[in-house]
Amino acid sequence: MEKLTIAIQKSGRLTDKTLNILSQCGLEFHIKKDVLFASCASYPAELMLVRDDDIPAYIANGTCDLGFVGENVLEEKVLKNNNYDLDIPIIKKMNYGKCRLSIAVPKEQYFESVKDLEGKVIATSYPNILNDFLKAQGVDAKATMINGAVEITPKLNVADAICDIVSTGGTLKANGLKEVAQIYQSECVLVESPKSICDEKRKMIDQLLQRLDGVLSAQNTKYVMMNASKASLDKIKEILPGAEEPSIMPLAQSSDKVAVHIVCKEEVFWKTIEQLKAAGASSILVLPIEKYIQ
Ligand code: PRP
Ligand code: ZN
Repeated sequence: MEKLTIAIQKSGRLTDKTLNILSQCGLEFHIKKDVLFASCASYPAELMLVRDDDIPAYIANGTCDLGFVGENVLEEKVLKNNNYDLDIPIIKKMNYGKCRLSIAVPKEQYFESVKDLEGKVIATSYPNILNDFLKAQGVDAKATMINGAVEITPKLNVADAICDIVSTGGTLKANGLKEVAQIYQSECVLVESPKSICDEKRKMIDQLLQRLDGVLSAQNTKYVMMNASKASLDKIKEILPGAEEPSIMPLAQSSDKVAVHIVCKEEVFWKTIEQLKAAGASSILVLPIEKYIQ
């Protein structure tokens, strides 16, 4: 029996979220410390835990069938590098791992515009994306390749500035740096190997994609239940955007009031609940949806 091989970042920003989403899709992996592979009891799949920077290469040469990787890494290694003969198709944007690639300088350093980077040395793990940006801006600066801990290079006098991934901004702050230009926006994406994939694996990928859709579409959707008068139904549908036709059920004790159940495709804020109440709804319950299959 064929097994899908899925590559994920071994340890980093994307690891836990990816494992969590795979588990919501019914793929629970048994991960042992310091082991590269993890097996799955509930699905014919195997996990490869590797450095995120290596994922594009493993996908390009078919070592892995699928990979969860930051668009930033993919862009740097593949799209901007012509490293591989084949394109690596993105088959799903995952909507997590959102971050930006930014230029940062020591916080006391004067900075007005990117022109101030002229003649400077910028340390980065993303020289291709950075050089494209500098060229487009007409700035002559030197991108120097550093593989890890880029943020300490200004302190070590190895570089004047850095270009690195910023998510919360905590790393920059901790190292006395300020963000001065955002050059690329990224999120986690699911990629598929361009090498030929057999029918059996193709079916598994399609099934996994459907499950991912179910999990991703449930994010931010809520199941809202309330009691309301029949006359207020139109107003309620207006307040809950994206709501499908609600289910209406009679209430045993009342001829005017009904129970209303609605799938709301957006976050339901306190303000929304207050508006529902003002429209005449009562006993409002808001529940998270785990999976949503359309
Ligand atoms: C990036 C970057 C910083 C950190 C920034 O690493 O190199 O270390 O995230 O996050 P913060 O703004 O929330 O502090 P990444 O997770 O891309 O992994 P890497 O170690 O492979 O570069
Ligand atoms: Zn990395």
